[in-house]
Amino acid sequence: MRLADLPTPQVLVDQARLVANLDRMQALATKRKKRLRPHAKTHKSPAIARMQLARGAMGICCAKLGEAEVFADAGCDDIRLAYPIAPFNAARLRALMNRARLSLIVDHQDVADAWSAEMIRAGQTLDVLVKVDVGFHRCGIDPATPDAAAFVRHIARLGGLRLRGLLSHAGHAYHSTSTAQCATIAQQEAEVLRDLADRVRALDVAIEEVSVGATPTARFSAAEAAPTELRPGNYAYYDRSQVALGSASLDDCALSVLATIVSRPAPDRVILDCGSKTLSSDLARGAGHPTGHGLVYPDPESTVPDETLVVERLSEEHAIVRATRDTKLRPGSRVRVLPNHACVVSNLVDCVRLVDGQTVVDSLPVAARGRIT
Ligand SMILES: Cc1ncc(COP(=O)(O)O)c(C=O)c1O
Repeated sequence: MRLADLPTPQVLVDQARLVANLDRMQALATKRKKRLRPHAKTHKSPAIARMQLARGAMGICCAKLGEAEVFADAGCDDIRLAYPIAPFNAARLRALMNRARLSLIVDHQDVADAWSAEMIRAGQTLDVLVKVDVGFHRCGIDPATPDAAAFVRHIARLGGLRLRGLLSHAGHAYHSTSTAQCATIAQQEAEVLRDLADRVRALDVAIEEVSVGATPTARFSAAEAAPTELRPGNYAYYDRSQVALGSASLDDCALSVLATIVSRPAPDRVILDCGSKTLSSDLARGAGHPTGHGLVYPDPESTVPDETLVVERLSEEHAIVRATRDTKLRPGSRVRVLPNHACVVSNLVDCVRLVDGQTVVDSLPVAARGRIT
């Protein structure tokens, strides 16, 4: 099938770029002797997870149990849940433990105690990592407090749990405005984790794993001594934010949206058929804060974007694009849009179209989309 035969909007994944992105990150991890555990929330696709595992990834990472269930069904047998799953879900989690090597993060004593009680009752042992807040200020224990190491020791002593180590996510790297700032965040993250691991080891508690993960910091974290594992996710596709953050070039971005101009109500305004239900409402991050809801390629076959086309507003099904009056775009014309944030875009469609130039080579189900519980 040719691209021209597809109705729009469609989420396209450039096969060669995807493969290159997966190869490059695996090569970096292998070179630096780090284990790569990609976060599958970006693609939510068992087919792409298999490509990552075939290249040397030692497992995958998921947020929600529902995602992990999909990947376990597809044969992924080593899954880390880097999200604070509520013990309410114990029965589901225990069932999953029978199908995959599972590990979970904990950062709160009550939650850890509840998981411990559940596991003792079931006669099972759950691998856990303590989530550490390295500056994002979302989840995680505060490593600066004197009792942080004692908290980790408490977890290590709980029945039914097996402490594997420490885990962090430097999500604040997405707010960095320069490559240097991003590098500093990765260095600080590694230093904070090394320091806490040393303090925990001084209490006679083994820390076998130090897991870090975010696409903007991955290239710097790989060079640090402390991390044993990298968990980037977005790198499979990259997007406009990653380009602005310096993690990738425009020509690395594998995911884009094929759209059609459905109206041109004014000479300087064109309407695309991809609204917030396709592009999402996420704005771009990174240096210069790129404006609008995506970068438009007026010729879907070209690799040259047109920055004068600004996706100013989105309705659910419309993208309102400001254009120059001499734009050649007319109703019926097709464009490609590079989204600001690829992970949320793939989550909005049942399948992505794997493309080689103008040929659609496959349709990959986004099998774990919508698995938010
Ligand atoms: C806990 C955790 N680990 C890893 C990742 C992957 O980071 P990125 O999306 O920058 O690749 C995320 C992303 O949200 C995350 O929340």
